[in-house]
Amino acid sequence: MDAQHWDERYRSQDRLFSGNPNGVLVTEAADLTPGRALDVGCGEGGDALWLAGRGWQVIAVDISQVALERGAAAAAAAGADVAGRVMWTQADLITTPPPGGPFDLVSVQYFPLPVTPDHTALRSLLDAVAPGGTLLIGSHDLADHAAYRDSHPDFDPTTYYQPADVARLLDEGWAVQVNETRLRTAAPPEGTHHVHDTVLRARRVR
Ligand SMILES: C[S@@+](CC[C@H](N)C(=O)[O-])C[C@H]1O[C@@H](n2cnc3c(N)ncnc32)[C@H](O)[C@@H]1O
Repeated sequence: MDAQHWDERYRSQDRLFSGNPNGVLVTEAADLTPGRALDVGCGEGGDALWLAGRGWQVIAVDISQVALERGAAAAAAAGADVAGRVMWTQADLITTPPPGGPFDLVSVQYFPLPVTPDHTALRSLLDAVAPGGTLLIGSHDLADHAAYRDSHPDFDPTTYYQPADVARLLDEGWAVQVNETRLRTAAPPEGTHHVHDTVLRARRVR
């Protein structure tokens, strides 16, 4: 799933996602003091704009230039205050570490991160969290993938990190605050069976 794949996927529709912030982010970040945030795989920017609207300085990174342009347009429409707090950055976060760290919040929402034996890309994201900062990962529940797998037998979601996999890799430098599966706060995205989220929230203690 390279840049061309994602650009084509975005171009296939005027808007791929709702434009609303993800429920996991809204639930878990509402009590955080605004600081610097990294939105990993920001898509069309619903989360980045929500964070900016709450006073966060956001680096919003995506591999798709099409998605980033949509995010920047939505930011401009939201006004200079919000637009001025988001930096839209094109990068492949599987092959390159995130720019501009460390961050008080690293938010990873529905980001397909392939499992590798050395966990290099995952470790780059963990390293981007400042001491005292928060790692927040939201993902679709694997159990909800069952119906999708019937029609896409080549897709194996277990080859991507799930929040619980990441929790198992965290050392004593982290405090896990949430590691659970829960009902989505919003309806499943159109045409999908995603009714549950799996969520990891962890604080970097040093
Ligand atoms: C399922 S979408 C989620 C978008 C957004 N986080 C949301 O919840 O609406 C995954 C996003 O990750 C981006 N992405 C996929 N692989 C990437 C990579 N290697 N580096 C950076 N972004 C990537 C895609 O372009 C896409 O926007």
